[in-house]
Amino acid sequence: MASALKERDKQLKEFAKSKIMESERLALIGQLAANVAHELNNPLQGIVTYSHLLLENDSCNGSSMSSAQKIVTQANRCRDIIRGLLDFSRQRKPDKTVCNINAVIDECIGLVEYQALFHNIEIIKEFDENLPMIVVDPSQMQQVIINMVVNAAEAMDESGQLTLVTGYDPVEKVIEIKIRDTGQGIPEANVRKLFDPFFTTKDVGHGTGLGLAISYGIVREHNGSISVDSELGKGTSFLIKLPMNAVEEVVDARA
Ligand SMILES: Nc1ncnc2c1ncn2[C@@H]1O[C@H](COP(=O)(O)OP(=O)(O)OP(=O)(O)O)[C@@H](O)[C@H]1O
Ligand SMILES: [Mg+2]
Repeated sequence: MASALKERDKQLKEFAKSKIMESERLALIGQLAANVAHELNNPLQGIVTYSHLLLENDSCNGSSMSSAQKIVTQANRCRDIIRGLLDFSRQRKPDKTVCNINAVIDECIGLVEYQALFHNIEIIKEFDENLPMIVVDPSQMQQVIINMVVNAAEAMDESGQLTLVTGYDPVEKVIEIKIRDTGQGIPEANVRKLFDPFFTTKDVGHGTGLGLAISYGIVREHNGSISVDSELGKGTSFLIKLPMNAVEEVVDARA
């Protein structure tokens, strides 16, 4: 028994160590991403401003007009990527309020269910109706859930089952959100890279690889965690854990 306990202790220590190394690695990437995003932001502002000026110029017509328009579109795309990097590296502080996670997820479903991508996907809700309220930034949480359900739909090649589960663990005092799909699954070798900015397996132009990096940044900012369980050819399940925090304090502060 003593040796079994020792062995378990060793495994727990190793697990904790690998978790710390993983979060340090992502923090380092986050720092780098934030610096790059900052440095790129200034020249990009110049490109956006001057391309708009070109568009407004009377002598801009025909093909030069269409070229200027393309510059504006591409510059806007760069701006979105930079915003994503800043989100990942926690440069945007959450605006937290008391929320019901079931309602947040319902809103996400409302936003995506009529999109073509979801036409042949059965969305199943397994909500804990007695879920306690929690303090989160609802629009950031929505961003996380939408990123994950879009990934799920893409992994299912647009047809399959998407199950959204909520629950409360009174021992750990965390709210759990599970997003499960019946998609292609994730190869073992990719699991480690999932939350790295720009990691994508999608074709050029179909994914920037920022969705999960941003989601990771947001959940970490809420002191939560994301874990993944996947089986090739069967499907993937993402589990988000959000710790309960002082709901009363926020209610008091806003009263
Ligand atoms: N549910 C899932 N099933 C299978 N693979 C997944 C799933 N979710 C994520 N992935 C894998 O993780 C990669 C990274 O996902 P992420 O959302 O960060 O970027 P993306 O979807 O490729 O691009 P973006 O979200 O920026 O448009 C995906 O390219 C895909 O390979
Ligand atoms: Mg994605």
